[in-house]
Amino acid sequence: MKRELAEAARDLAAYIRNLDENLAELPRPGAVKTAPAALPKAKAPPAPAEVPPPTIMTKKPADMDALAAQVKSCRKCGLGDSRLNAVFGVGTYKAKVVFVGEGPGFQEDHLGEPFVGRSGQLLDKILETVLGLKRSEVYIANIVKCHPMKNPADPESHGNDRPPTPDEIAACRPYLDEQLRFIKPACIVTLGSVPTKVLLNTDKGISLVRGRSYDYPVEIVPGRPIKVIPTYHPAALLRNPNLKRDTWEDMKMLKTFLETGKIT
Ligand code: SF4
Ligand code: URA
Repeated sequence: MKRELAEAARDLAAYIRNLDENLAELPRPGAVKTAPAALPKAKAPPAPAEVPPPTIMTKKPADMDALAAQVKSCRKCGLGDSRLNAVFGVGTYKAKVVFVGEGPGFQEDHLGEPFVGRSGQLLDKILETVLGLKRSEVYIANIVKCHPMKNPADPESHGNDRPPTPDEIAACRPYLDEQLRFIKPACIVTLGSVPTKVLLNTDKGISLVRGRSYDYPVEIVPGRPIKVIPTYHPAALLRNPNLKRDTWEDMKMLKTFLETGKIT
């Protein structure tokens, strides 16, 4: 009981500390009203999200290169019609850790590589300074592989990003699980609320979920659950540097796990 109270107090303190982020998750004026997310009960299982569960690919690719070719020509959702480049992923297929973002932005759409804009530069810095790793030593991918745009007719305009819709996420999700089946990482780091909600099947925001690890709910390697460490998206750190401290804590948890196999 005492321990549960202490954990609830810790969650509440994190919620208050990161109020900016939590406020950003409240509906914008004019948006459909939804009930505000409830504060977490200690160790309660994540609540189900609206996104349907992942599906297994019907056309099984032989290897990662075949999968990348499928993604390159994919038109399973509307994003395929407006993208300049599908953004499959980058890094080593032998990675112990896979970082998962939301979806490509302007720079990524133009270059065909994930996290190459300002957020990506910060991600590279975190990898190097906290983990001592280069992007070529991990794997980096996104929940959706094509750039979600507010105005799909204008891929050349800046500030044209939007989050992916549940339908787009559901259409693209099997590709990520297939990537994970080839890589078989020990750990996934979800960057921000969108990938965290999708991969942990929860509707709680990132500030309530981060700070500990979870088992990935999809079985990728029989008998060995992949650990999921949720943390803030680098774009959130650029907007609010106060979030850096918690992100560093999360990355130290990852470092310890990679070095010792131990995780909290
Ligand atoms: Fe296909 Fe995913 Fe691109 Fe949609 S976002 S077209 S599902 S690769
Ligand atoms: N933000 C993301 O979530 N993914 C990218 O690839 C770039 C920015």
